[in-house]
Amino acid sequence: MTIEQPSALWRDYELIDSGDFSKLERFGPYVTIRPEPKALWPRSLSDAEWRRLAHTEFKPGAGFGKAGKEDSGTWTMLHKMQEQWTIAYPAVGFNLRLGLTAFKHVGVFPEQAPNWDFIYRSVKDLAAGQAEAPKVLNLFAYTGAASLAARKGGAHVTHLDAVRQVVTWARGNMEISGLDGIRWILEDALKFARREARRGNRYQGIILDPPAYGHGPDGERWKLDECLYDLLDQCAAILAPEKSFLVLNLYSNGYSAVLADTLVRSAFGTNCASLDYGELVLRDRAGKALPLSVFSRLKR
Ligand SMILES: C[S@@+](CC[C@H](N)C(=O)[O-])C[C@H]1O[C@@H](n2cnc3c(N)ncnc32)[C@H](O)[C@@H]1O
Repeated sequence: MTIEQPSALWRDYELIDSGDFSKLERFGPYVTIRPEPKALWPRSLSDAEWRRLAHTEFKPGAGFGKAGKEDSGTWTMLHKMQEQWTIAYPAVGFNLRLGLTAFKHVGVFPEQAPNWDFIYRSVKDLAAGQAEAPKVLNLFAYTGAASLAARKGGAHVTHLDAVRQVVTWARGNMEISGLDGIRWILEDALKFARREARRGNRYQGIILDPPAYGHGPDGERWKLDECLYDLLDQCAAILAPEKSFLVLNLYSNGYSAVLADTLVRSAFGTNCASLDYGELVLRDRAGKALPLSVFSRLKR
């Protein structure tokens, strides 16, 4: 069990402070205040300092916390900033365009950085030992940071998400990273994985970061606790039996790292060169660790 956090050398992201159910973060030049239900402790900096540093604050809307509108609200400007801007992830070598969305997100989950590093290293290792580029499937791929890490490592990447706008966003991130050749799929993750299993297609890498609830483009219902094992079963059928890796990331339902590990062991067996599981955290300037997701990774 490991606890991982983004490297302190990543200059374009910083969790400045956390507390009172909020977090104060810097994404490149801009500082945001966003709700954070897990920040149960008091802030280390004063409220005045938060407001002095922040460019914008996300205020939850009336439906905040209700099913389907969990993260909805509006941004209040505190200091001048651009609506869209770009940050870099030099450890792997890609760029991400960020923007203020109506759902409190800005287009990146920075705690995922250790997963990007793992994906990049794993693809490079696989690519070094074989003539053909490894094939990597990224499910629930959002704005594509993990896809870019795999592509940068030399993989043929299939990037899948159910929402057209985020696929377009991810394609833009590929372009501003100077990369090309990612295959874009707008489909329900489970439906696609089932079809790939039926067709006998194989991938050397699979990445999945499923939400608690979601919908495929044709209204297919995704419910994490009901659908996850089925999806992992399909993934076990399409992951190459050797020289392959998997990253499962879970950020909702309060799932623990041990649960992620047990799921992966059950679906993939224990015939792996390495199985690792743990928590991804962000640490603020005062040293307070904010746990944001759990992961299980296998390599075989
Ligand atoms: C929060 S994101 C995952 C974060 C992403 N892995 C990252 O680190 O950038 C969850 C994504 O799942 C997508 N999604 C939800 N339901 C889906 C489904 N049934 N099939 C495919 N994608 C789905 C959403 O559109 C969203 O982009």
